[in-house]
Order: sequence, then structure tokens, then C-alpha cells
Amino acid sequence: MIQRCFLNGDFVSLERACLSPLDRGFLFGDAIYEVIKIREGVPLWLNEHLARLERNLEEVGITHDLDLKYFINIYLKKEGLKFGSLYIQISRGTDRFREHLPSKRLLPTVFMLLSDAVPASLPSDPLKVIPIDDFRWGRCDIKVTSLAANVLAKIKAQKEGFDEVVFVSSRGEVREGGSSSVFVKIGGIWFTHPLDNHILPGITREKILKIFRDKGIEYIERPALIKDIESWEEICVCGTLTGVAPVARFGEVKFSLPFEEVIRIANAYDELERNYVDSFSW
Ligand code: PDD
Repeated sequence: MIQRCFLNGDFVSLERACLSPLDRGFLFGDAIYEVIKIREGVPLWLNEHLARLERNLEEVGITHDLDLKYFINIYLKKEGLKFGSLYIQISRGTDRFREHLPSKRLLPTVFMLLSDAVPASLPSDPLKVIPIDDFRWGRCDIKVTSLAANVLAKIKAQKEGFDEVVFVSSRGEVREGGSSSVFVKIGGIWFTHPLDNHILPGITREKILKIFRDKGIEYIERPALIKDIESWEEICVCGTLTGVAPVARFGEVKFSLPFEEVIRIANAYDELERNYVDSFSW
């Protein structure tokens, strides 16, 4: 069990870590986060995750001056964690009272927590996903911690016996999962939603697109449409904690084994991770 977290420059025991209730992350979800998979002690795609974090912080106007890479290295060594994940959250900081408009020059709250829960192995077990009308806000490209819609959608999915939700636009376009990106194969071509304000620019998604290019697998960054579901051949959802998982059921529609190409993609992704681990240096 991980006993310590990182909070504003210190490593403190989880029991003693203290945050003000006036922290804007707590009151408003006014914070940006990242989740990074740890494999053999290596934080996978570290530069990509940190770049997305900085981009998102800039987007919402939160600034910090901590050398996160340095502290991640120390934290991983302190805990000796080999397999798991790292959560990073940076909020706008603690204000003097609850007010939507933040005071000027707040000190951001920087929090990191390792977890020894091992992310899905590759290829992951087939998942059951449920389509849900996308009722989230209009900036899903920013990784903010205000995730009430995702949480509610996932609770509904679990109640109905599904593993993940897939958000669908009012025009029947497949967007993304509650915490994953989505790919659908139609007529031998993999469809995935283009990067815009409706989806998170997933790092796993980007790696899978690279695999497609390297292996000459055809793809198009265009959303699959629910109305064409009868012609869908394979579906896969992917993400830092999801791995690359075939979908066995999409709402009422079942997809049967062997999920051949998803498994090939998952194995190629696993190899990409392994190569990254082998060549990683701080
Ligand atoms: N979520 N889409 C959404 C809405 C997500 O929350 C995530 C990841 C992804 C996949 O992104 P990536 O490949 O960069 O992990 C797509 C993280 C893991 C989470 O919220 O826990």
C-alpha cells in the first residue's frame, strides 16, 4: 500500500496530508489532472502526459513552477513502485472565501498520488459498454477534475451491468468513453472521433494511431455513427487505465470472438510500451 502522497513540495503520509476546504479544486473542481501508468518503475509516455498537463493548465490560466519530473522520480524511488499508476492534480489554489471568480495570484495546490492497483493487462478482457447521450460540458478536450457527468454515467452503466459508457452526440456520433477513447472498425477501416472540443486527446489513442500508420492499418478520424451499427465489425476502447480492450457488447448489440484485429493492436501497443520502458531514462 502506498502510504505517502506529494503535496506542494513535500512527501507526507496520506493520513496527515491536509488541504483547506477553501481549495478551489474541492469547491469548484477548478483543477487539472493527469493519470500516468507505471510499468517496471517507469512512468509511461511521461513527456506526453506532462505536455498535456501544461497545455491544459495554460488553457485554464493556472501557473505553477514545480519541476514535476524531478519530484515524480523521487516519489517513485521512495515508494519503490514497479507497477501501478500516478495521479497528478493541480488546482488553482486556496482562496479566502467561496467565490466563483478567483482572487488574483493564488498559489496552486499540487498533489500527486501513486497507486499500486495495476492497470489492465494487455490485451484486456472484452468489455460491455453502454451508449449514453453526451450530457457533459463543451470542453471535453481539457482534463479538468469536474467529472460529475462521467461519474453519473459510469454509475448508471454499472447498475445496468456494463463496464464502461460511450458518450454519443445528439446526431448519433460516437465520441469517447467515460474514461477511454473509442475505435470502431467498419468496412476494414478504423473510425475514431477527430480531435476537437468533444473528446480528450487521449495519449493511448495517439499511440494506437501510430501503430495503424506503422502497420499500414487503415483509419479515419471521423466518428462512427450509431445508425450504422449493423455494419460495425470490431470495437475497442483504450486508455491509460483501460489498456486496449475489445468490446463484446455495445448496448444491446453483441460482438463475438475472436476480436482478431483488436488483439493484434493490443499486442502491438504492449510492445510499444515495452520498448519505451527499455529505452527510458530520466
Ligand atoms: N482518463 N477520454 C476520457 C474522457 C478519459 O478520461 C481518458 C482517460 C481517456 C484516455 O486518455 P489517455 O489515453 O490519455 O489515458 C479518454 C483517465 C485515465 C482517468 O480519468 O482516470
